[in-house]
Formats: sequence, structure tokens, C-alpha cells
Amino acid sequence: MFVALERLINLDEGYRRTFRVGGRDLLLLVVEQQPVLLEDRCPHQGAPLRNATLAGTVLRCARHGVEFDLLGGQPLNATCAALSRLALAYDGDRIGIDV
Ligand code: FES
Repeated sequence: MFVALERLINLDEGYRRTFRVGGRDLLLLVVEQQPVLLEDRCPHQGAPLRNATLAGTVLRCARHGVEFDLLGGQPLNATCAALSRLALAYDGDRIGIDV
């Protein structure tokens, strides 16, 4: 089942918004003109990533400063799991996820 999150027309560079879908907190970002959907939960110790700093494609968690490469999801300056990226789906003029 497709769950719409946002209209495509609203996905400008710098877009950032959280959604709660099926009990999970998700974070939708536009990075280098590409939409990226993540769990809003840092793999290091679980802080929300909604306030993370973004520099290019590097997302830096506000809690302990672990940096993640958004494209591959890997941590760059610590040893922890990678970011959980979710596949995006499209339906007409909407972007969302299949659940
Ligand atoms: S919880 Fe994100 S860096 Fe520790």
C-alpha cells in the first residue's frame, strides 16, 4: 500500500520534514536534489536525526557528532551501524513509501 508523504513540487533543496508512519519516525530530506528517506533515529545511540547538521552529503548527528555519508549510509568518524535508508515510491505527483 502506497503512503503519500509529500507532493513532488514541494521537494526543494534543503527540504527536511519528519513523518510518523506505522509507528516509525521517518525523516525526508532533499540532498543534492535527491530525496532521501531515513529512519529518524541515529544508529549510534538513537537520537532523532531531524536536527542533524547537513554539509554536502554528510549528515552530522547533533547528539555526539557522528557523521554519516547520506549516499551510502556509512558512519565516517565512529564505529556504529549505517543509517537506515528506506526506498521511496512515487504515485502521480506524490512521493511516499510502500508499506
Ligand atoms: S546518538 Fe547520534 S551520534 Fe550518538
